[in-house]
Amino acid sequence: MALLSPPAQRMPGRAPATRRSATRRSPFYGNLGRPLYPVIKSESVDPVRNPYAPGAGQRPPELAGRDRELQQFEIVLERVARGRPERSMVLTGLRGVGKTVLLNTFKSMAMQRLWGTGKIEARPEQSIRRPVAAALHMAIRELAPRHRAPERIEEFLGVLKAFAMRDPGAAKGTSHWSPAIDVPAGRGRADSGDMEIDLTELFVDAASVATDLGVGVALFIDEMQDVQASDISALCAACHELSQSGGPLIVVGAGLPHLPSVLSASKSYSERLFRYARIDRLDREAADLALIAPAEREKVEFTPEALDALYEAADGYPYFVQAYGKVVWDLAPGSPITADDIRVASPEAEEELAVGFFGSRYERATPAERDYMHAMASVGDEPVPTSDVAELLGRKPSSLSPARDSLIKKGLIFSAERGFIAFTVPHFGKFLRAQPL
Ligand SMILES: Nc1ncnc2c1ncn2[C@@H]1O[C@H](COP(=O)(O)OP(=O)(O)OP(=O)(O)O)[C@@H](O)[C@H]1O
Ligand SMILES: [Mg+2]
Repeated sequence: MALLSPPAQRMPGRAPATRRSATRRSPFYGNLGRPLYPVIKSESVDPVRNPYAPGAGQRPPELAGRDRELQQFEIVLERVARGRPERSMVLTGLRGVGKTVLLNTFKSMAMQRLWGTGKIEARPEQSIRRPVAAALHMAIRELAPRHRAPERIEEFLGVLKAFAMRDPGAAKGTSHWSPAIDVPAGRGRADSGDMEIDLTELFVDAASVATDLGVGVALFIDEMQDVQASDISALCAACHELSQSGGPLIVVGAGLPHLPSVLSASKSYSERLFRYARIDRLDREAADLALIAPAEREKVEFTPEALDALYEAADGYPYFVQAYGKVVWDLAPGSPITADDIRVASPEAEEELAVGFFGSRYERATPAERDYMHAMASVGDEPVPTSDVAELLGRKPSSLSPARDSLIKKGLIFSAERGFIAFTVPHFGKFLRAQPL
């Protein structure tokens, strides 16, 4: 740790002289140094410098194993900006595989190319009208300072305001919300109340502002499976229109594995609009890189056996890689981190996952939904036939539809293929099997 002198120069049981004098000078923080000191067991594997980042959408210290997707998106950006026909991308995958992180990285790539960007996170049963308006407002704010004709920007903002004000809540008088856009709302464009027409007009206008600057606009939609059916259909129609006119605006989505079927149920041509990229577990090389690269920057190493043990435990799932990495680092006495360190740290890592990653989701389920999931887990870890679940519970399949549908809505399970159901959370079956019924 940078603040401490090396162990050899330290007086036993005493904090280093430099810090003592520093704390003596500071009446406020004098109590902080000493209690922290025994907690830091190792100079090299210092908890303060722990690089790993388990969390939702948390930027990993090393974005491992995603080169192909990054390259593909680079091409999408280049082609769209040149008005070439190109499909946009939709990322799909289980919980914790890194969809949000990749979506955020795509956003940064678009921003680096000076595109206008905005992002929304879809919520079940919520119209996307306001969030899309806010996101495109952000995108245009990014472009505005470089635009030579302020009246073009103002005109677009007028259209955007009119679009936002057709929010269903506002129409019913249940909302006093007004968009924070400083120009009067326009009339006659993107304000019909029909989402498909309005979104198409809005996108065409936003694309045209970006064309003036030779760039594009990218709208990122996370948790896209939660966009309500009518809005999904409007989004597809608007993207379809743009793909025909060559307007430089793309919608980039991320969602659970059943997102492609949500899109194709809405518009049969959706497969031709989007390139689906399945985001999966990291292979061994990438999972090792995710651990080694950040450690190397802190001069910490792993033995090959430690990496074997970590791959076995985390199974290549990015969230688990970060979660194990974090706990192992905190508990390891020094570098290199060994297989023994992994064995010692595993129970704590598992406990943290049980509470934070699995438990928080399990808590959201009602007793009937929990029974349904336990039955799924007892069948196995592959997608399970819904008829097997019904049989196990001694119920008619139709009587279980409410529990199943609500679990789908809560994003805990998804319909993998017709008649089959699977967990959205990796290793959830294993977690459930370890829970008392
Ligand atoms: N390529 C990667 N390399 C290393 N770590 C990663 C990678 N991608 C994601 N992570 C880590 O995995 C965790 C989960 O990432 P993220 O939140 O993006 O997953 P997600 O697929 O969006 O999950 P959810 O479906 O729950 O929203 C984060 O802690 C992130 O730092
Ligand atoms: Mg996410």
